Amino acid sequence: MAKNHTHAQWSSRTAFVLAATGSAVGLGNIWKFPYMVGDSGGAVFVLVYLVCIALIGLPILVSEWLLGRRGQSNPVNTMQTLSRESKKSPDWVLVGIAGILGSFLILSFYSVVGGWSLNYAWSTLTGDLGQSSGVAVGDYFDTLLKQPGTLLFWHTLFMLLTFGIVAGGVKGGLERAAKWLMPLLIVALIGLIGFGATTSGFKEAATFMFSPDWSKLNGGVVLAALGHAFFTLSLGMGIMMAYGSYLGQDVNLIKTARTVVILDTVIALGAGMAIFPVVFANNLDPSAGPGLLFVTLPLAFIDMPGGFAFGAIFFALLTVAALTSAISLLEPVTEFLEERTPLSRLASAFVAALATWTLGIAALLAFNLWSGFAPFGLDIFNLLDALTSKLMLPLTGLAAIVFTAWFLDGESVKQELGLGPKGRVLWHYVSRYVAPIGVIVVFFNSL
Ligand code: TRP
Repeated sequence: MAKNHTHAQWSSRTAFVLAATGSAVGLGNIWKFPYMVGDSGGAVFVLVYLVCIALIGLPILVSEWLLGRRGQSNPVNTMQTLSRESKKSPDWVLVGIAGILGSFLILSFYSVVGGWSLNYAWSTLTGDLGQSSGVAVGDYFDTLLKQPGTLLFWHTLFMLLTFGIVAGGVKGGLERAAKWLMPLLIVALIGLIGFGATTSGFKEAATFMFSPDWSKLNGGVVLAALGHAFFTLSLGMGIMMAYGSYLGQDVNLIKTARTVVILDTVIALGAGMAIFPVVFANNLDPSAGPGLLFVTLPLAFIDMPGGFAFGAIFFALLTVAALTSAISLLEPVTEFLEERTPLSRLASAFVAALATWTLGIAALLAFNLWSGFAPFGLDIFNLLDALTSKLMLPLTGLAAIVFTAWFLDGESVKQELGLGPKGRVLWHYVSRYVAPIGVIVVFFNSL
């Protein structure tokens, strides 16, 4: 019996780590991180990002899991229960609600990029990208962006896949598959880095990513790095809170968070070192924006033996990583509808996917028909990104850690974390002061 019990616990911890890593590792690491590094002056951004991950991201990840495990329910109910228990204002429930709204906003443009990834997997496989089409590899991406119908097709396909997985209840299956596919993605990245090392751009790439030019430091860069720390760890949307609610009491939150954070960070840095050598070897512009990954990698595939077969595999793996993140974004909206409306699970998933898909159309039109429409100086795609990463994620994440550190009773926190005396002191200062003040300072500094 005892043996069985241990086994069940272990398998649930593995399942949990897979789900959390699946949510964290995605387009944020491989598509978004490199282009943000390129946009924000290289190593300065990387360093600030690493500091944000360690001092702010990690403690907030622990807080979200802790709240979820305490509350034992979806983020809205969790915040309701916990604020009632600790006799605090019921307004804390806004944290849960903001999470649901934010997930919906993020998934809309995430699915458009997931669609690009699908399109690239397909067209590297069939040869439309590279050999047989008349379009030069470098122009493929620009041509793609100018075709709203094509973008819509792939965005729809990505959304259908996400919907199918969430509605069909096969999330667990996908996450188990990701257990094998994620290491393969890492191998593919290592292959690309190895290729990069043979190009003339490798040294320049390493300098660009790791040797800071401090004159590039400004409030905007710091806010972008902070926002990305939240985005890449799936923080501030209640998602990790929801995952925490399924967590057994025996799982050590801090150690598990460390594992997830290290994996996530290593993959992002690896993606940067895969992409920038090719950028510099081909004299491309590192600040090319959201297209960076898509215009750069095909150039590497051309020069590699069997490059396009490798490319097809790479983009297929990227799509899987994107799907394991996308399901974590569709889930909260679905769950909310299921619990708060008479809709069935299937109908809830459908309504959630349909609404997100519709907003996604506005995001993809930003690259063509609506490119001139730029409220607040940003087109819709970038506006959705900025609104979530730079505003909603930091604020909601801040609320989660402030609630944990200042409002939840100390005894629960002590029980949840199981820290020794030194660890407790460290947690006390980091969760009460370092992380919250960090978010606040970055925030006001950039305004
Ligand atoms: N972290 C994922 C990525 O890097 C994206 C993501 C999934 C996300 N769930 C999230 C971002 C919740 C913010 C909040 O690709």
